[in-house]
Amino acid sequence: MKFFIDTANLKDIQEAVELGVLDGVTTNPSLMAKEGIKGTDAVMAHYKQICELVDGDVSAEVIATDYEGIIREGEALAELHPNIVVKVPMIRDGVKAIRYFTDKGIKTNCTLIFSAGQALLAAKAGATYVSPFVGRLDDIGADGMQLIQQIVDIFSNYGYPTQVLAASVRHIPHLIQCAELGADVVTCPLNVITGLLNHPLTDKGLATFLADHKKVNS
Ligand code: G3P
Repeated sequence: MKFFIDTANLKDIQEAVELGVLDGVTTNPSLMAKEGIKGTDAVMAHYKQICELVDGDVSAEVIATDYEGIIREGEALAELHPNIVVKVPMIRDGVKAIRYFTDKGIKTNCTLIFSAGQALLAAKAGATYVSPFVGRLDDIGADGMQLIQQIVDIFSNYGYPTQVLAASVRHIPHLIQCAELGADVVTCPLNVITGLLNHPLTDKGLATFLADHKKVNS
């Protein structure tokens, strides 16, 4: 399973890179706004910086919601760096644009996926990734993990090359369940990735090993 970090924060991205487990980055307009990045030039420069930090796919989302606008923005993003994946919302013109980008060899991530039908449509249009939002489904009392299972099964039934990128992954049980279900990628904040390091028995065991070593070596 690939690990992507879901942030536009350069420090967090760098920390995940240094851990040696990072396969890519996802961003969205909210995450860019959180970093105070505004204006086209600043946004483009920030995406370029992210791409230079990470050896892997970097999803950069279009703002336009009409076909021509999505194509214009997506092509400009794709020209920035070979790591860029154009992130397109699951709307009618978005699906049309995904077909266009796919035919031109530009990678895409279809975002805001909340149903198996939406994922199937994006896969039919040739999306590189679909992003079902697990946490946001849980927020409304639905079962985000059930959607991951459905999409993994459907793509496997037909051998679709589209990868299931589980997004809105908020905590470790989410991440582990995605792994059990066979999601191709999870994207989550840094604290979920580093949280995987922790177990109290590891801390306790290490303390004992070091204390025993010290007893005979001091
Ligand atoms: O990649 C989508 C993700 O950023 C959404 O996460 O926690 O805002 O639902 P969240």
